[in-house]
Amino acid sequence: MSASITALTPAFGAEIIGVDLTLPLDASTRDLIVDTMNHFAVAVIRGVTVSQDDQVAFAKNFGPLDAINGVLQTDIKRRLSADLVDISNMDEQSNILELDDRRRLFNLGNRLWHTDSSFKRIAAKYSMLHAHAIPPVAGETQVCDLRAAYDDLPKDMKEQIGDLVAVHSIFTSRALLGFDNFSPEEHALLPPICRPLVRVHPGSGRKTLYLASHIGRILDCPVAEGRLLVRDLMEHATQPKFVYTHHWRIGDTLIWDNRCTMHRAMPFDESRFKRDMRRATVMETDVAPVDDQNAVATV
Ligand SMILES: [Fe+2]
Repeated sequence: MSASITALTPAFGAEIIGVDLTLPLDASTRDLIVDTMNHFAVAVIRGVTVSQDDQVAFAKNFGPLDAINGVLQTDIKRRLSADLVDISNMDEQSNILELDDRRRLFNLGNRLWHTDSSFKRIAAKYSMLHAHAIPPVAGETQVCDLRAAYDDLPKDMKEQIGDLVAVHSIFTSRALLGFDNFSPEEHALLPPICRPLVRVHPGSGRKTLYLASHIGRILDCPVAEGRLLVRDLMEHATQPKFVYTHHWRIGDTLIWDNRCTMHRAMPFDESRFKRDMRRATVMETDVAPVDDQNAVATV
């Protein structure tokens, strides 16, 4: 496999050309993809739609996948393999979900800026989102560069936030949209997780913000002040100059590094069109949450 890179901007976003997800990945191409991600943080591989097995096999070249990908506990049969997260507006029969379906209401949280799985004990390293069906207009995915956003902060803000710890919970982001219809079992499955607000990206050595709509408070900080600080930082980080907007084509695989980006889905006409996206999630197995050393957090 002979792959090459086309930068979409000098430092954020690239297209990786010449990679076939249906073929075994050789070491040099794998290294090229990792190097690309370390520099550009988000990359697209264009092609044709691939099978679930091929998508999973490709993603496993970069680490173990998150096998506990469902948050909602349900008896409804899954549409996809247990190794893939269903980012669609479709039910188990591949029909468009009713607008009041609990799965759709939960998935509306993807419209908020977030980083995947920051609320889980093992967070996400890479997300690899593969497009099977897209609406004719809209439904883009936006990704923002939290390294550049950190670099752009005033010096005194960098000093203020350098040692702060944020509390992440999936129930925080869903509550922002008024969705609080979770069972005690679902709450018990995902207790709050503490993570640094600023971290060093291990692949590049760059400092980066680590933000998400899952953050409900900052440790050792009054709730209101913590939430206002996070809101200010998120507004700063999502300025257009830090954002890449991906206009989907069927067969695209968009890869983003959750350790230094946030992303969100853009709206489309969900009552008329299918948007079938399938996500493989490579876990960040080499970093433990802060609460290994601290008391269990509360939201
Ligand atoms: Fe996401």
